[in-house]
Amino acid sequence: MNKNVFAHTYEVSAKERSQLKGHKGLVLWFTGLSGSGKSTIANALEKQLVAQKIHTYTLDGDNVRKGLNNNLAFSPEDRVENIRRIAEVSKLMLDAGLLVLSAFVSPYSKDREGVRSAVGAENFIEIYINTPLSVCEKRDVKGLYAKARKGEIKDFTGISAPYEAPINPDIEIKTEELTIDESVAKILKNIEQKLAF
Ligand code: ADX
Repeated sequence: MNKNVFAHTYEVSAKERSQLKGHKGLVLWFTGLSGSGKSTIANALEKQLVAQKIHTYTLDGDNVRKGLNNNLAFSPEDRVENIRRIAEVSKLMLDAGLLVLSAFVSPYSKDREGVRSAVGAENFIEIYINTPLSVCEKRDVKGLYAKARKGEIKDFTGISAPYEAPINPDIEIKTEELTIDESVAKILKNIEQKLAF
């Protein structure tokens, strides 16, 4: 940080902001391969949360990369920077009192642990959307796996770039075993207590 920059303390706290909303803030961090179902499950979950009057915001890799992070590609360094920025944005949103759903491939364990410590372990829930590569590749909703196999996309997660699966995620969703509704219910059950004051 620039030594001539000083953090200013504001008198309204994160707690007051979230109390006004009637629930605690949280960061739900969805990690998994491209096409694993992160955005689909986050979307279905957000609909349920909003129906329960929970104040949410969703940050999604494909969307954020069109705006804030449109100067980043998929090299290891750029992925690290992508996740670092999202960690900071998630932290700001948490400070605003929101329940943040962040859906990013986030292939490196170290970076996900970086988010956990940036936002505070008590506010962070790692959700591993566990869909085998073979299934993601078979679905290939965006046609990216086919391009990656032909070498038209380099550094593609699972094909020509690594994915470090979480060893001990807070929640694991095996999408081959659960429907979207069951996945949403599993996550809701887990976070219910954590949202209450
Ligand atoms: S991350 O690795 O830096 O966390 P992020 O979640 O932002 O990735 O973006 C992943 C999305 O970008 C994928 O769902 C896919 O649609 C698209 N994409 C394009 N190129 C790649 C690539 N080389 N590797 C992974 N995803 C890619």
